[in-house]
Amino acid sequence: MSFCHDELEICGNMDMPGAAIDVDRYVDYSRMEVTEDQQRIMQYLHRHIAPNDSILHVGIGNSDLAAQFFNKTSLIEGLTVSDRELEYARSFDLPNYSVHLLSKHSREFLLLISNKFDYIIDNNLPSFACCRYHFFTMMDNYLWALKPGGKIITDESGLNWACKDPSFVMNYQGLSKLQEFLPIKVSRLTDMVIAVEKQSRPKHNRPVTKSYRLCRKNGRDIIEPRGVEVKQQ
Ligand SMILES: C[S@@+](CC[C@H](N)C(=O)[O-])C[C@H]1O[C@@H](n2cnc3c(N)ncnc32)[C@H](O)[C@@H]1O
Repeated sequence: MSFCHDELEICGNMDMPGAAIDVDRYVDYSRMEVTEDQQRIMQYLHRHIAPNDSILHVGIGNSDLAAQFFNKTSLIEGLTVSDRELEYARSFDLPNYSVHLLSKHSREFLLLISNKFDYIIDNNLPSFACCRYHFFTMMDNYLWALKPGGKIITDESGLNWACKDPSFVMNYQGLSKLQEFLPIKVSRLTDMVIAVEKQSRPKHNRPVTKSYRLCRKNGRDIIEPRGVEVKQQ
Protein backbone atom coordinates (compact mmCIF):
# COMPACT_ATOMS: atom_id res chain seq x y z
CA MET A 1 0.00 0.00 0.00
CA SER A 2 1.19 3.52 -0.75
CA PHE A 3 1.05 5.13 2.66
CA CYS A 4 3.36 4.44 5.56
CA HIS A 5 0.75 2.73 7.82
CA ASP A 6 0.98 5.43 10.52
CA GLU A 7 -1.98 7.25 9.08
CA LEU A 8 -5.36 7.19 10.79
CA GLU A 9 -7.64 4.48 9.40
CA ILE A 10 -10.81 6.49 9.95
CA CYS A 11 -11.14 9.92 11.53
CA GLY A 12 -14.82 9.66 12.48
CA ASN A 13 -15.72 13.07 11.03
CA MET A 14 -18.49 12.19 8.62
CA ASP A 15 -20.01 15.68 8.27
CA MET A 16 -17.17 17.73 6.80
CA PRO A 17 -14.15 15.46 6.42
CA GLY A 18 -10.72 16.76 5.41
CA ALA A 19 -7.72 18.29 7.17
CA ALA A 20 -7.58 22.01 8.00
CA ILE A 21 -11.02 22.70 6.54
CA ASP A 22 -11.38 25.83 8.67
CA VAL A 23 -7.77 27.04 8.64
CA ASP A 24 -7.77 29.98 6.20
CA ARG A 25 -4.00 29.91 5.84
CA TYR A 26 -4.30 26.54 4.05
CA VAL A 27 -7.67 26.72 2.36
CA ASP A 28 -8.20 30.36 1.36
CA TYR A 29 -6.07 31.07 -1.69
CA SER A 30 -8.52 33.58 -3.16
CA ARG A 31 -5.97 36.40 -3.04
CA MET A 32 -2.83 34.30 -3.51
CA GLU A 33 -0.80 33.74 -6.66
CA VAL A 34 -1.53 30.47 -8.44
CA THR A 35 0.90 27.79 -7.18
CA GLU A 36 3.65 26.53 -9.46
CA ASP A 37 2.05 23.08 -9.55
CA GLN A 38 -1.26 24.43 -10.84
CA GLN A 39 0.60 26.58 -13.37
CA ARG A 40 2.31 23.49 -14.78
CA ILE A 41 -1.06 21.76 -15.07
CA MET A 42 -2.56 24.79 -16.86
CA GLN A 43 0.35 24.82 -19.33
CA TYR A 44 -0.43 21.18 -20.11
CA LEU A 45 -4.15 21.96 -20.50
CA HIS A 46 -3.48 24.87 -22.86
CA ARG A 47 -1.82 22.39 -25.21
CA HIS A 48 -4.40 19.59 -24.94
CA ILE A 49 -7.84 20.92 -24.04
CA ALA A 50 -10.63 20.59 -26.62
CA PRO A 51 -13.73 22.84 -26.88
CA ASN A 52 -16.09 20.05 -25.79
CA ASP A 53 -14.05 19.10 -22.73
CA SER A 54 -15.40 19.60 -19.24
CA ILE A 55 -13.35 20.27 -16.12
CA LEU A 56 -13.93 19.77 -12.41
CA HIS A 57 -11.38 21.96 -10.62
CA VAL A 58 -10.88 20.85 -7.02
CA GLY A 59 -9.26 23.59 -4.93
CA ILE A 60 -10.13 26.63 -7.03
CA GLY A 61 -7.81 29.08 -5.24
CA ASN A 62 -8.16 32.45 -7.03
CA SER A 63 -10.25 30.97 -9.92
CA ASP A 64 -7.51 31.74 -12.43
CA LEU A 65 -7.97 28.33 -14.04
CA ALA A 66 -11.64 29.11 -14.75
CA ALA A 67 -10.74 32.59 -16.02
CA GLN A 68 -8.24 31.10 -18.48
CA PHE A 69 -10.38 28.18 -19.69
CA PHE A 70 -14.08 29.14 -19.46
CA ASN A 71 -14.16 30.09 -23.16
CA LYS A 72 -12.06 27.10 -24.28
CA THR A 73 -14.21 24.37 -22.71
CA SER A 74 -17.86 23.42 -22.46
CA LEU A 75 -18.15 23.46 -18.66
CA ILE A 76 -16.08 24.16 -15.54
CA GLU A 77 -17.24 23.32 -12.04
CA GLY A 78 -15.13 24.10 -9.00
CA LEU A 79 -14.88 22.83 -5.41
CA THR A 80 -13.68 24.78 -2.42
CA VAL A 81 -14.03 24.60 1.35
CA SER A 82 -13.43 28.34 1.73
CA ASP A 83 -16.29 30.88 1.83
CA ARG A 84 -13.90 33.55 0.57
CA GLU A 85 -12.82 31.51 -2.43
CA LEU A 86 -16.48 30.86 -3.23
CA GLU A 87 -17.36 34.55 -2.98
CA TYR A 88 -14.35 35.56 -5.07
CA ALA A 89 -15.19 32.97 -7.75
CA ARG A 90 -18.75 34.26 -7.99
CA SER A 91 -17.54 37.86 -8.36
CA PHE A 92 -16.12 36.98 -11.81
CA ASP A 93 -19.58 35.94 -13.03
CA LEU A 94 -18.05 33.71 -15.70
CA PRO A 95 -20.37 31.79 -18.01
CA ASN A 96 -20.00 27.97 -17.77
CA TYR A 97 -18.40 28.27 -14.31
CA SER A 98 -20.11 27.23 -11.10
CA VAL A 99 -18.56 26.55 -7.71
CA HIS A 100 -19.65 24.33 -4.83
CA LEU A 101 -18.69 24.72 -1.19
CA LEU A 102 -18.02 21.05 -0.67
CA SER A 103 -15.32 18.76 0.68
CA LYS A 104 -13.87 16.42 -1.92
CA HIS A 105 -13.69 13.77 0.84
CA SER A 106 -17.41 13.84 1.61
CA ARG A 107 -20.28 11.64 0.49
CA GLU A 108 -22.30 14.79 -0.35
CA PHE A 109 -20.05 14.97 -3.40
CA LEU A 110 -22.28 12.32 -5.00
CA LEU A 111 -25.40 14.38 -4.28
CA LEU A 112 -24.10 17.74 -5.51
CA ILE A 113 -21.98 16.79 -8.50
CA SER A 114 -24.24 15.55 -11.26
CA ASN A 115 -22.11 16.12 -14.37
CA LYS A 116 -19.39 13.81 -15.67
CA PHE A 117 -16.01 15.30 -16.55
CA ASP A 118 -13.13 14.78 -18.97
CA TYR A 119 -10.68 16.23 -16.45
CA ILE A 120 -10.56 16.53 -12.69
CA ILE A 121 -7.78 18.94 -11.75
CA ASP A 122 -6.45 18.54 -8.23
CA ASN A 123 -2.86 19.60 -7.65
CA ASN A 124 -3.13 18.62 -3.95
CA LEU A 125 -4.61 15.14 -4.38
CA PRO A 126 -3.66 13.61 -0.96
CA SER A 127 -2.59 16.83 0.81
CA PHE A 128 -5.83 17.46 2.74
CA ALA A 129 -6.62 13.86 3.64
CA CYS A 130 -7.68 13.36 7.25
CA CYS A 131 -7.56 9.54 7.20
CA ARG A 132 -7.26 6.61 4.86
CA TYR A 133 -11.02 6.10 4.64
CA HIS A 134 -11.61 9.65 3.41
CA PHE A 135 -8.67 9.51 1.01
CA PHE A 136 -10.34 6.55 -0.70
CA THR A 137 -13.77 8.20 -0.49
CA MET A 138 -12.24 11.04 -2.53
CA MET A 139 -10.76 8.62 -5.08
CA ASP A 140 -14.12 6.86 -5.37
CA ASN A 141 -15.88 10.25 -5.80
CA TYR A 142 -13.44 11.22 -8.54
CA LEU A 143 -13.71 7.95 -10.45
CA TRP A 144 -17.49 8.19 -10.27
CA ALA A 145 -17.45 11.77 -11.63
CA LEU A 146 -15.12 11.05 -14.58
CA LYS A 147 -16.31 10.13 -18.05
CA PRO A 148 -14.94 6.81 -19.34
CA GLY A 149 -11.30 7.49 -20.19
CA GLY A 150 -11.40 10.74 -18.21
CA LYS A 151 -8.34 11.79 -16.21
CA ILE A 152 -7.44 13.21 -12.83
CA ILE A 153 -4.53 15.58 -13.42
CA THR A 154 -2.17 16.26 -10.56
CA ASP A 155 1.42 17.36 -10.00
CA GLU A 156 4.31 15.71 -8.20
CA SER A 157 5.20 18.71 -6.04
CA GLY A 158 1.58 19.06 -4.86
CA LEU A 159 1.52 15.31 -4.13
CA ASN A 160 4.65 15.86 -2.13
CA TRP A 161 3.03 18.12 0.42
CA ALA A 162 0.64 17.20 3.22
CA CYS A 163 -1.18 19.83 5.19
CA LYS A 164 -1.45 17.87 8.43
CA ASP A 165 -0.48 14.20 8.34
CA PRO A 166 2.95 13.42 6.80
CA SER A 167 1.70 9.89 6.04
CA PHE A 168 -0.16 11.45 3.12
CA VAL A 169 2.94 12.81 1.44
CA MET A 170 3.12 10.92 -1.85
CA ASN A 171 5.27 10.60 -4.93
CA TYR A 172 4.77 9.14 -8.38
CA GLN A 173 5.71 5.62 -7.25
CA GLY A 174 3.31 5.77 -4.30
CA LEU A 175 0.48 6.95 -6.50
CA SER A 176 1.25 4.21 -9.05
CA LYS A 177 0.83 1.56 -6.34
CA LEU A 178 -2.88 2.42 -6.18
CA GLN A 179 -3.17 0.75 -9.61
CA GLU A 180 -2.98 -2.61 -7.81
CA PHE A 181 -6.49 -2.21 -6.44
CA LEU A 182 -8.17 0.76 -8.16
CA PRO A 183 -9.28 0.80 -11.82
CA ILE A 184 -6.75 3.46 -12.80
CA LYS A 185 -3.67 3.91 -14.97
CA VAL A 186 -1.05 6.33 -13.65
CA SER A 187 1.33 7.98 -16.11
CA ARG A 188 3.54 11.03 -16.46
CA LEU A 189 2.35 13.76 -18.82
CA THR A 190 5.47 15.90 -18.25
CA ASP A 191 8.35 15.59 -15.79
CA MET A 192 6.04 16.87 -13.00
CA VAL A 193 2.45 16.64 -14.25
CA ILE A 194 0.78 13.27 -13.66
CA ALA A 195 -2.39 11.70 -15.06
CA VAL A 196 -4.56 9.19 -13.26
CA GLU A 197 -6.75 7.77 -15.99
CA LYS A 198 -10.01 6.01 -15.25
CA GLN A 199 -10.09 2.43 -16.56
CA SER A 200 -13.08 0.14 -16.87
CA ARG A 201 -13.48 -1.99 -13.77
CA PRO A 202 -11.80 -5.39 -14.20
CA LYS A 203 -14.14 -8.37 -13.98
CA HIS A 204 -13.57 -10.46 -10.90
CA ASN A 205 -12.37 -13.70 -12.47
CA ARG A 206 -11.47 -15.78 -9.44
CA PRO A 207 -14.18 -18.42 -8.96
CA VAL A 208 -15.77 -18.56 -5.53
CA THR A 209 -15.20 -22.12 -4.37
CA LYS A 210 -16.03 -21.93 -0.68
CA SER A 211 -18.18 -19.91 1.62
CA TYR A 212 -17.66 -19.63 5.34
CA ARG A 213 -19.78 -19.31 8.38
CA LEU A 214 -18.48 -18.25 11.79
CA CYS A 215 -14.90 -17.75 12.95
CA ARG A 216 -13.44 -18.64 16.29
CA LYS A 217 -12.65 -15.73 18.61
CA ASN A 218 -9.14 -15.37 17.19
CA GLY A 219 -10.82 -14.23 13.96
CA ARG A 220 -8.87 -16.72 11.84
CA ASP A 221 -9.98 -20.31 12.39
CA ILE A 222 -13.07 -20.87 10.37
CA ILE A 223 -15.77 -23.20 11.50
CA GLU A 224 -17.69 -24.98 8.82
CA PRO A 225 -16.31 -23.99 5.42
CA ARG A 226 -18.77 -25.05 2.76
CA GLY A 227 -18.01 -25.99 -0.81
CA VAL A 228 -19.76 -23.99 -3.51
CA GLU A 229 -20.72 -25.49 -6.82
CA VAL A 230 -18.68 -23.75 -9.53
CA LYS A 231 -20.50 -23.49 -12.83
CA GLN A 232 -18.20 -24.13 -15.78
CA GLN A 233 -18.36 -21.27 -18.30
C1 LIG B 1 -3.02 25.16 -1.32
S1 LIG B 1 -4.54 25.79 -1.96
C2 LIG B 1 -4.24 25.64 -3.73
C3 LIG B 1 -5.14 26.50 -4.57
C4 LIG B 1 -4.94 26.34 -6.07
N1 LIG B 1 -5.27 25.01 -6.52
C5 LIG B 1 -3.51 26.65 -6.47
O1 LIG B 1 -2.74 25.71 -6.64
O2 LIG B 1 -3.17 27.85 -6.58
C6 LIG B 1 -5.61 24.41 -1.59
C7 LIG B 1 -6.99 24.46 -2.22
O3 LIG B 1 -7.68 23.25 -1.91
C8 LIG B 1 -8.96 23.56 -1.37
N2 LIG B 1 -9.31 22.47 -0.42
C9 LIG B 1 -8.69 22.15 0.73
N3 LIG B 1 -9.30 21.09 1.30
C10 LIG B 1 -10.31 20.73 0.48
C11 LIG B 1 -11.31 19.73 0.52
N4 LIG B 1 -11.40 18.86 1.53
N5 LIG B 1 -12.21 19.67 -0.48
C12 LIG B 1 -12.15 20.54 -1.52
N6 LIG B 1 -11.22 21.51 -1.62
C13 LIG B 1 -10.31 21.62 -0.63
C14 LIG B 1 -8.80 24.92 -0.74
O4 LIG B 1 -10.04 25.59 -0.59
C15 LIG B 1 -7.86 25.59 -1.73
O5 LIG B 1 -8.59 26.08 -2.83
